[in-house]
Order: sequence, then C-alpha cells, then structure tokens
Amino acid sequence: MTQSHEEPALSDARGLAVAMERMLRLAGNRIADHNAESPLVARLTDHIGAPLHELVQVDHEYRPWEHASLQRGIDAYLAARSPGAEWFGISGRHRGHENISDMLSGALQNGAYGLGRPDYGTAATGPDTSMEIVTLGLVAAAAPDGAPVVIGVRPADDFHRTVVASVFARDRATAAAVRDEIGRLCAEHDVMRGQFLSFGSSEHHGNALVSFLPRPDLAAADVILPDGRLEAVEAHVVGIAEHSEQLLKAGQHLKRGLLLHGPPGTGKTHTVRYLTSRLTGCTVVQLTGPAMQYLDPAVALARRLQPAVVIVEDVDLVAEDRDLYEGSQPLLFALLDAMDGTAGDADVVFMLTTNRVDTLERALAERPGRVDLAVEIPRPDAEGRLRLLRLYGRELRLDADLTKIADRTEGVTASFVKELVRRAVLVALRDAASVEVLTDDHFDTALGEMFDPAQSLTRGLLGAAGNEG
Ligand SMILES: Nc1ncnc2c1ncn2[C@@H]1O[C@H](COP(=O)(O)OP(=O)(O)O)[C@@H](O)[C@H]1O
Ligand SMILES: [Mg+2]
Repeated sequence: MTQSHEEPALSDARGLAVAMERMLRLAGNRIADHNAESPLVARLTDHIGAPLHELVQVDHEYRPWEHASLQRGIDAYLAARSPGAEWFGISGRHRGHENISDMLSGALQNGAYGLGRPDYGTAATGPDTSMEIVTLGLVAAAAPDGAPVVIGVRPADDFHRTVVASVFARDRATAAAVRDEIGRLCAEHDVMRGQFLSFGSSEHHGNALVSFLPRPDLAAADVILPDGRLEAVEAHVVGIAEHSEQLLKAGQHLKRGLLLHGPPGTGKTHTVRYLTSRLTGCTVVQLTGPAMQYLDPAVALARRLQPAVVIVEDVDLVAEDRDLYEGSQPLLFALLDAMDGTAGDADVVFMLTTNRVDTLERALAERPGRVDLAVEIPRPDAEGRLRLLRLYGRELRLDADLTKIADRTEGVTASFVKELVRRAVLVALRDAASVEVLTDDHFDTALGEMFDPAQSLTRGLLGAAGNEG
C-alpha cells in the first residue's frame, strides 16, 4: 500500500525510460528489417532501396503465344540497359500460380515462398526452332533514366490466361517507362513476324495455341485454273502488296478481302497456299474451326505484324456459329466486323474460302466493302483436266491418250484428277516394282475403280460429279 504511493527513485525512472526506448527502437527495427527476413524480398528491396510496401508495381499482360517475343524484348532491354544482369527465381510449391506480388507478400508473411532459381521453359520461334524462355523469374535492372527497377515474369496457366510482365520501381513513371520500352522491343523482335502461323491446338509445340507452320512453296504452274483467273487474284493480292507505298501515296487503301468460292476439291485452299508462298515476308495468320474463337486477337496480331494475311477457310462451316465466339453474334458477322475494323491503310489481306457461297451471299451483300474480290474456283474443264494429268504425272512418262481420259472425267474436280494419277501409279505398281510409264491400261483400271458404284462416297469426297463418260 505504502509502496504504490511511493515515488520511484529517479534512477529507476531513467532506467525504465531507457529500457522503453530501446524496446521501441527494436520493434521499429524489426518492422524495417522485416524485408530482410526474406532473402527473396531483399533482392528487390536492396536493389531498389525501398521497402516492399513502398514499391510501385506496373504490370503488362501478354498472350501465351507472345511469351517468346516477350523474352526477346526483355533480353534486348537487358542487353541495352543492364548487361550481365542475372535472373533469380522464386521457390515454393505453388509458385507460378500466383501473381508475383502475392508471392512476395507470401514470402514475408508466412515464408511460403523463398529465393530460388528462375524457372525456364521453351517456346517456338519457327516451324523447327525454339528458344529458352524464363517462365517465372525476376531480374534487377536499370530504368532508362538509370533508376533501379526489378522486372518479373509470371507464366500463363490454366487459371491465368495471360503471361504477366511486372516492373517494380520506386515510382510509377519509372516502372511505366520500363514497361513501355520492353513493349516496344517485343514488337521489334517479335518472333511471329513474317511467319506462317496457325491458331488452334498445336501439334508442333506442346501447349502452344499458335503453331508455326512451314511456308508453302508453290509455283504458279502448280495451280491449274481457267485462263487468267490465278493472275487476276494474284494481281489483286500480291500486286497491292508490291505497290503498297505508291498506293498509299496516291490515297488508296491497302486492306483487301478475297473470297474464293467453288465446290470442294477445286483448289481454293491450294490457291490460298500459292498466294501465301508469293507473299514472302508477309505474316500469315490462319484460323480454322474452333480457333475462330481467337478471331479478335488473331486479327490484332495480323495488324501488328503487317504486311499480313488472315486466312479463314470454309467460313460457311462456322458462319452461323455463335458458340465458338465470345460475342453473341454469329461468327460471320464478327469476322466481317473485324475486317471492317481493320484500318484501310493496314496492309492486311483477308482470304476467305467457302464451298457454299449462297449461304453467305446475303450477309456479304448486307455489309458491303469487306470483300472486294470474289472469285469462283470451278471444276476444271477438259483442258484443265489435261493440264492436271500432266501436272500430277510430271515425274512420269505418260504413254496414254490423255485427251481421252480428260473427256471421260467430265465434271470431276482437280483433286479427283490428282487422285486418279496416284491410283494409276498404284495399278502400275501391282505389275512392276517401280513405275516410270503410265499407260491407257493403268488409267482405265484406275478409272474403273474410282467410278465403281461402290466408290460413290469416294467420288463424293473427291468432289466428283461422278458421271463416267
Ligand atoms: N486447281 C488445282 N490445281 C492443282 N492442284 C489442285 C487444284 N485443286 C486442287 N488441287 C489438288 O487437290 C488438293 C485438294 O484441293 P484443295 O485446294 O484443298 O480444295 P478446296 O480447298 O477447294 O476444297 C490440293 O492440295 C491440290 O493438291
Ligand atoms: Mg479447302
């Protein structure tokens, strides 16, 4: 009782104050040192010179198929601004499924993530080439103005549909400047420029949504069309590309829409392939079937990597489809909108093919200006069939009455004639180990097989009208 009212000795009070002050300082230091408790976070905070909660993070999202270009962009950035910079990574079981910022706070809060080695993967850069990419990693670098920044990359996965490049810095402007320069360098070093790209599931490179295909190599002589037709198409598509500068100067637009229509097997795809082989250096973006859901990013890609071609084959098959496409309008309208939305001065060619132009005609007529050249690819006439026989038999000596064969195949398609030559070779191979000459007998037998009533489906699939002469 008496004690509680006693004034503490002056020396005790001073001692307490000193102890209190020391305690507060320690607590303060602990907060300040908190970052240092995670070597991972310390790699950022030591470099940038500010605690984690003071860092600004600027993100930019890239499509999964842009990962290789992003890597090239960052590589180019580092080479210019921070040569010798070394990537570090994040350890932890769920790394890569969280945003980098979440992993950094996780590292501080519960040690779920730590400092580790970067994660690497590969990404295609061409039909037969690939490069190593950092799928999850960070690298300390300098901003264009010399300020310290840390660049991070987090991969796309089933949950996150985009690759995220983050820039950490002391202020927003610095981080944004780095983001912008990396973006510029990505575009400059884009691995897709000038490539033949196909949207869809990839057979070539694992999970990639976009695959690189070898560019077709076809000569005009490989495409048998009625006189002048290929030339007209080529003049429109390739001619505009060749004179793009003069056309722009003369106030003319470059964008063009080509529609090839005709029965199956007459060479629409073949013609498209020929045209792309003539458009060397042009980026080709091909969309088929379910890949149509990527229409918008694919068209955006083509615009960015122009001169470019966007190929949509057999549009009638998906024209009415609303499910494939995110929007509620049928796909054909989405496509026509995308064609219309592409600026006129963009050197982008849209190549559409269809077997059933009648189903598209109204929609196309209602939205004029998207397709500026519609060309029919018909079944070959007798002269055409003769030329096709010679084309597909060019490695052989044809000791047969080709005119007669051409007459007998009235109404068939080019692909039927191609198959006929192959069958004739097979017939010849039944009698001999190798084939150099094809005779009337070989063709007769082959034609007999192909016109056999039991093969009416085959004929149908080859697009033949099917009347044996
Ligand atoms: N006009 C043609 N000239 C030369 N070959 C052709 C022609 N049309 C078709 N072919 C051959 O038949 C194959 C199938 O034709 P394709 O172009 O796919 O037909 P479509 O796209 O009109 O249905 C081609 O790969 C090509 O080998
Ligand atoms: Mg086709």
